[in-house]
Amino acid sequence: MTTLIKNGRIITATDDYHADVFIDGETVHTIGRNLPVKADKTIDAAGRWVIPGAIDPHVHMELPFGGTISSDSFETGTRAAAFGGTTTIIDFAIQYHGKTFEQTLDDWDAKAEGKCAIDYSYHLAVTEYEAKHAPEFKKVVDRGISTFKIFLAYPGVFMIDDTTMFRVMQSAGEAGGMTLVHAENGIAISQMIDNLVAAGKMAPKYHAQSRPPVMQADGVARALRVGEVARAPVFIVHVSCEAAMNEIVRSRDEGNASFGETCTQYLFLDETCYDKPNFEGAKYVFTPPLVARENIEPLWKGLKLGYLQEVSTDHCPFNFKGQKELGRGDFRKIPNGGPGVEDRLSLVYDGAMKRGFSPNKWVDLCSTASAKMFGMFPRKGTIAVGSDADIVIFNPDKQRTISAKTHHMNCDYSLFEGMEIQGAVETVLSRGKTLIESNQYLGHPGEGKFIKRGQCAVM
Ligand code: URP
Ligand code: ZN
Ligand code: ZN
Repeated sequence: MTTLIKNGRIITATDDYHADVFIDGETVHTIGRNLPVKADKTIDAAGRWVIPGAIDPHVHMELPFGGTISSDSFETGTRAAAFGGTTTIIDFAIQYHGKTFEQTLDDWDAKAEGKCAIDYSYHLAVTEYEAKHAPEFKKVVDRGISTFKIFLAYPGVFMIDDTTMFRVMQSAGEAGGMTLVHAENGIAISQMIDNLVAAGKMAPKYHAQSRPPVMQADGVARALRVGEVARAPVFIVHVSCEAAMNEIVRSRDEGNASFGETCTQYLFLDETCYDKPNFEGAKYVFTPPLVARENIEPLWKGLKLGYLQEVSTDHCPFNFKGQKELGRGDFRKIPNGGPGVEDRLSLVYDGAMKRGFSPNKWVDLCSTASAKMFGMFPRKGTIAVGSDADIVIFNPDKQRTISAKTHHMNCDYSLFEGMEIQGAVETVLSRGKTLIESNQYLGHPGEGKFIKRGQCAVM
């Protein structure tokens, strides 16, 4: 199968020019002006931007969590991602106690294989580390998973202690990998939760009050300091506030391999969402929680100046009806997480353009930086001869209103309901195959393949 995309404006993280793209099979074959070729399918991209498929490196499909399971399966979640122009996701394979790393990855393969609409990978979340686990790091890296994840939150569920943190960072680094950290002070937070509950404070907004920004900044500082002595690269996930970001800036200034991301929800929403009536604040119960509006512009500035490297979603949806409702009367029982995988590319476009980012920087934040950071570049994250033909044809002028009525995520609400944004995804190709066209999904479950990743290419 050959496809010719004609007359588009090609925008990568570094280039911006008009040309045609000829795709042969799964990869880009030729790029040039007025290519004299015939193809099985021709797409006219005049007036459109032709960009690399987006990469969302932080999602949780069908994750058992908080007494329930996140509502998007690998099938529904990756289809929704495709509608939004995302052609690769990285999920988190979480080690349950007693499992080896390899068993954990086998379990996640069993959930994902044959289901995905788009390409996928996992980070391996380590929840226990004994001597027997040490040789496993190299095997995981050889299997194409070069990133490990630890939680400094959720005591009794996923949280690890500082000994384990040090060991994971050191072993991951020695094996050529990088450690991702959910950084909060989980112990102090658990005491704050107990205090709020003792005072009868049980509404959704107390989830946010139990985890103030300083607790996140504390976790980030600790993780980066430990990474420094372990001499290993550390990447902080879902940075939601300026105080936490400043810890990354400090560590980078000191020359350490310290990195971080933020997520769409923290770039647009603030803590006033928790005041919504009729328990609707529960829709915004995720961790870290939303914070004061004063944090939003510093996060955008951090993206512009390279303090933070990319934007993910931390997509971990739970329906309001039947799932979020589990926590009526007790915020501790509200499953933590929210939907987002579908709207990231256009939301970041809207916010970035309003703040004077270049189109190249937008592409970098949504695709290229993650491809490099997580070992998939230049196969993913760019449009170049030989790269996978993961391509989005984007209409920069179209206006659209975000709504759960029209989204494809398996979730009965949107975090961004009613928000009017500029820019819309029109056509999506995944390894040469047209997946989305005229708002229709043309793919089949299982066409997405596991991507073996290499080392971080940013350090
Ligand atoms: O609330 C969240 N973020 N749920 C998903 C798990 C995590 O901490 O990333
Ligand atoms: Zn987390
Ligand atoms: Zn997460």
